[in-house]
Amino acid sequence: MSQRPLNVGLIGGGKGAFIVQPHQRAINSDGTRRVTAGALFPDPKIAMEEAAKWPYPITGYPSYDDMITAQAGLPNDKKLDYVLIVTPNHVHFDPAMKALKAGIPVFCEKPLTVNLEQAAELVKMVHKTGIPFGVAHTYLGHWTTRFSRAIVRSGLLGEIRWVDSYYIQGWLATKLEDTGQQQASWRVNPKLAGASGCGGDIGTHALMQLRFLTGLEVTELSAQLEAFVPGRKLDDHFTIYCKLNNGAKALVRASQICIGHKNDLGISVNGTKGSLRWRQEDPECITVSLMGQPDRVYYRGCVVPNDGFLKDMPADLMAEPVIPPGHPEAFHDAFARLHRCFEADVRKWKATGKPMHIDGSKYANVEDGWMGIAFIETCVKSAKKKGLWTKMPRKI
Ligand SMILES: NC(=O)c1ccc[n+]([C@@H]2O[C@H](COP(=O)([O-])OP(=O)(O)OC[C@H]3O[C@@H](n4cnc5c(N)ncnc54)[C@H](O)[C@@H]3O)[C@@H](O)[C@H]2O)c1
Repeated sequence: MSQRPLNVGLIGGGKGAFIVQPHQRAINSDGTRRVTAGALFPDPKIAMEEAAKWPYPITGYPSYDDMITAQAGLPNDKKLDYVLIVTPNHVHFDPAMKALKAGIPVFCEKPLTVNLEQAAELVKMVHKTGIPFGVAHTYLGHWTTRFSRAIVRSGLLGEIRWVDSYYIQGWLATKLEDTGQQQASWRVNPKLAGASGCGGDIGTHALMQLRFLTGLEVTELSAQLEAFVPGRKLDDHFTIYCKLNNGAKALVRASQICIGHKNDLGISVNGTKGSLRWRQEDPECITVSLMGQPDRVYYRGCVVPNDGFLKDMPADLMAEPVIPPGHPEAFHDAFARLHRCFEADVRKWKATGKPMHIDGSKYANVEDGWMGIAFIETCVKSAKKKGLWTKMPRKI
């Protein structure tokens, strides 16, 4: 008999919120998990009104404190199996910590927190409790991202020596925040967004793509954080030259002032034997080039292991559910894959009752979240000293 769907509680997401929407579609997409509750807004009255207006029935709570404490009194099949945190960055730490203390798994938006102390506390708490914790680095959920990781890590490209990982947007090319636009307003405020604007918002995605594909870590960096739009306190343009732990170099760059660029996230990984290129605006294929050979373009759904070029592919990757090629997968499918993988870990954790370590091979874990914040803080330090080469803190 099939198992009951997991119950998911939303923290944030009312009144025109953005990222809750792809998440809630992804959560509900397989029928094996569903949104059942929400603390959707900071004002308790509005939180309840927003829950009452939700497109399908959910239990509304006036605050995330109320939602978390209410769980203890509920029968097992009504309790939340995990919470999703989709609030602005400054409201990640507190609900995440409270949920962990109440024994509830957490799937949290990035950047993990607004400073490294908070990130370290979350890492410690996750290690102490062994409760599943995921960070929503969306683009790891593309089948092609997981495929790229397998190719790069197979050694096909040789020793990696140069990576260009970027996320370029244009939506903050003018002072959109002055119009009251909700998503812009908090992203440019250091108290709500953290020490870097563009870097924290999208530079962390570019860093995560680099680390996920290559398994390499940034050891030292030289950063330029710029605000092109006059009057902005935080960077809207983020250019980081990095040294990696195998001796390679990388550029991790992000911008929000490049008009015409929408969600132009991409990566170029260059090794001694070949290169791999991928762009999220065309997420169904990757290009692999080996020296002296024609380019190979691999499409999701058309990959055959041991085709004379590729070696074995990881069994879990080949077993990932995909629709036939030519029916495009994209952003929403990436989110769904993250939640599907997180669900599997939550179910495993519940079934064994044993502390769990999330290995970060299918979605970002709490250590990845910490690394994103460590990167941001090191970039800010370096930029304040005009790009002085600055060492990253030791891995937690
Ligand atoms: N993974 C991705 O691709 C991606 C994309 C966009 C945003 N994000 C991240 O998601 C988070 C939310 O971003 P957004 O663009 O959706 O913001 P948003 O402003 O659209 O939504 C934030 C929501 O949180 C609610 N909120 C604020 N404080 C709250 C509190 N104390 N209790 C309950 N609800 C509260 C707001 O009312 C709103 O509903 C940010 O951390 C952002 O960095 C990630």
